[in-house]
Amino acid sequence: MKGTYDFGLVGLGVMGRNFILNVADNNFTAFGYDLDTEKVKALREEGGDTSKVDATTKVEDFVQALSLPRKIMLLVPAGQIVDTVIEGLLSYLDKDDIIIDGGNSFFTDTDRREAYLSVKGIHFFGAGVSGGAKGARLGPSIMPGGNREAYQYVKPIFEAVSAKYEGEPCVTYLGPKSAGNYVKMVHNGIEYGLMQLTSEIYDLLKKGGDFNNDELHQTYANWNAGRLQSFLVEITSEIFEQDDDLGEGRLVDKILDKAKQKGTGKWTSQNAMDLGIPVPSIDIAVSMREISALKEERLQADKMYGRPKVEQMDKAVLAKLAEEALYFSFIITYAQGLHQLADASKEYGYELEIAEIAKIWRAGCIIRAGLLADITEAFNADKALPNLLLSPSFTEKVQVTVGAARTLVAYAAKNGIPVPGLSNSLTYFDAYTSSRLPLNLIQAQRDYFGSHTYERLDKEGVFHTEWDKK
Ligand code: 6PG
Repeated sequence: MKGTYDFGLVGLGVMGRNFILNVADNNFTAFGYDLDTEKVKALREEGGDTSKVDATTKVEDFVQALSLPRKIMLLVPAGQIVDTVIEGLLSYLDKDDIIIDGGNSFFTDTDRREAYLSVKGIHFFGAGVSGGAKGARLGPSIMPGGNREAYQYVKPIFEAVSAKYEGEPCVTYLGPKSAGNYVKMVHNGIEYGLMQLTSEIYDLLKKGGDFNNDELHQTYANWNAGRLQSFLVEITSEIFEQDDDLGEGRLVDKILDKAKQKGTGKWTSQNAMDLGIPVPSIDIAVSMREISALKEERLQADKMYGRPKVEQMDKAVLAKLAEEALYFSFIITYAQGLHQLADASKEYGYELEIAEIAKIWRAGCIIRAGLLADITEAFNADKALPNLLLSPSFTEKVQVTVGAARTLVAYAAKNGIPVPGLSNSLTYFDAYTSSRLPLNLIQAQRDYFGSHTYERLDKEGVFHTEWDKK
């Protein structure tokens, strides 16, 4: 049976096992490799027919089982382990074999690995895979980047296993080098932003309208049936229904309010800063996870500072405003992430097509949402659109919902409810749509204390003034 399996997968953890079974379900033969005997055994049992899906703990047997050019996907934790796995495979590989890193690797690591392997004749792909364990099993969104010619060997398998949106596969070749990992990184930055916004709205409904968990469940479920239809709104509605198996009441009320992170949201923010692209809805989502981690200090500070008594709002009025504000701030968050992608594409030579990215995010991934069909259309209508807010098809969507964001940000500020994602989204919108900002004063200050010069509205050139006449 040597040399006949279509696809190899290294790392038979939850994601790897689900992904390889998905490959086998789609009539490709697949071979897995993991050092853990139990994981290999579990896959062989679950896979059933070993002529379709098999696995081993021996690297040599694994590599020899695969047809040429070998297509080997790694689903192992990002970091040093990816390098270790690559080194372990290398001596057994042939020229033109393909290695695909399906983890959340940092994009510069992917560039380094691609350069290292290309001189050895091996094609290296960074492919973001989104959708969690269920997505890996039933159809994820896949974001591959690497060598365009080599992609043809991977394409049929990825297209078969990926999620489908109205029959179209949620995978496409994105661009050279680390384009795939970069797009997945920004996907996760947007994910952080949307999660922060849905949690702020939950806080507003709970504190401002005294919504109980059943009402929260119903409200998010109603929204999911409308223009806010999205995976995150859907699971949020389900979360409010979940009973606590270890005690009374609903589980959500027992969960510690400290959110962890593996780093992809932070990388998005850091890189946006490097590129000079503002993504404040993502930045604040990272900061809020950091603030949430300061639980002990928050408990102490809560006792030291009083906060306003929350003035209650009518439930129906609040729910309507919340739906509009959430829709508005979702648009702003996608706009920021996509703006970053457009800019990164120029900076790193990715040749990204934003419409194609929005298209493969319409199903399978964590940030899938009805809104992405509209976003795809907007970028298809104008491929060079710098920012979603400049699309005429979004003007009305934003105009009819921004008022609710204003009302709720003002209400939250007055009542001491933190809504930084919502307020950052609103502030970004107000700043981005201002023809005149007060940054003329900053230029004057810079020139005053550092002779940094300034430009003028009415004359070409660079100017300096001796401001301090004393
Ligand atoms: C996905 C997710 C996935 C993972 C996040 C969690 O698209 O399937 O983004 O990659 O759940 O990395 O990230 P944090 O641990 O940083 O929240």
